[in-house]
Amino acid sequence: MLQDKMGRQFHYLRLSITDVCNFKCTYCLPDGYQCDSSRDFLSLDEIRRLVTAFARLGTSKIRITGGEPGLRKDLPQIIQTCKSIDGIEQVALTSNGFNLEQKINQWVDAGLDSLNISIDSLKPDMFRLITGHDKLESILRGLALARQAGLKAIKVNTVLMQQYNANQLDEYLSWLQDKAYTLRFIELMQTGDNQSFFNQNHVSGESIKQKLLAEGWSAVIRDKAAGPAQEFYHPDYQGKVGLIMPYSKDFCVSCNRLRMSALGKLHLCLFTEHGIDMRSLLKRDNQLNELCDALQLALADKTPSHLLQEGETGGTSHLAMIGG
Ligand code: GTP
Ligand code: 5AD
Ligand code: SF4
Repeated sequence: MLQDKMGRQFHYLRLSITDVCNFKCTYCLPDGYQCDSSRDFLSLDEIRRLVTAFARLGTSKIRITGGEPGLRKDLPQIIQTCKSIDGIEQVALTSNGFNLEQKINQWVDAGLDSLNISIDSLKPDMFRLITGHDKLESILRGLALARQAGLKAIKVNTVLMQQYNANQLDEYLSWLQDKAYTLRFIELMQTGDNQSFFNQNHVSGESIKQKLLAEGWSAVIRDKAAGPAQEFYHPDYQGKVGLIMPYSKDFCVSCNRLRMSALGKLHLCLFTEHGIDMRSLLKRDNQLNELCDALQLALADKTPSHLLQEGETGGTSHLAMIGG
């Protein structure tokens, strides 16, 4: 069992399989990914050993992240490998959706259970301005295919930004009326790369919350195993809304996730500067016991919260580094 000093238990691993991304989201990688061909990401065998160890320690959910995980040609094999490991009940994927329409059936066939896709505008021009890509229509078709393929848990992530899409909140809400997706507004987080951008564009989740409450939305009672979002429902809407507010008080109290970078470093928090290198313990199948011990030991250093005030950046230069 993976448990920290505060008694928080960790059944959920966010596993980054690449930090390369093909999008240029204004708040994340505005200049695009700076290519470093020496990157040597976790192999399928290393992923199998890692997930086997986590599963032995009680992990039941793996969320595959990036960079953009859809860029890895072996993504279906990675999904299948994670899903086939004893104890892993759920395999989820977070993607920018660039090849969703083409690949979703393969991913579902491989065992994918749920999907989170970023859509930062429902207007094609604004979508292109924010991400650098003309992909909105294809992604929306991909989402419909995901539903047809049987995926029930589909979440859409949106970062509202003052100078870009903040005025599209009403459009998002009406879009949700006949779609059973959970739409999450993620508060813009300040990272090392985006300080002035943050100051100009941060939209407070609290203001969205007040608007929702005034318009008849009600808070969903939080499940103990719930993720970081505070969720809301409305009797006239098929979809739900989630707010992710990392700077709000008590955000970290219910933290239930660990992160592994694509280079094999364990991050105890999204904002920790240095990961703990586990790669040397992923080389052979007979290192399983040693790896489990190292993971348990590492957890002793998890802090009660990320300790950041609004306006502080922590050590993460952009979220693509460790998959958000
Ligand atoms: P599920 O609960 O599995 O659906 O995951 P999720 O909501 O965390 O998934 P997703 O990959 O869509 O992440 C959304 C974003 O929420 C992340 O990229 C982060 O920006 C933010 N987030 C998720 N977990 C944390 C966390 O522990 N701390 C902080 N500060 N932000 C988080
Ligand atoms: N602030 C808030 N959300 C961010 N994401 C990436 N960078 C940031 C940031 N600085 C989001 C993406 C994606 C999710 C995985 O992380 O929009 O939906
Ligand atoms: Fe790529 Fe996601 Fe960063 Fe956008 S937010 S640049 S899709 S890693």
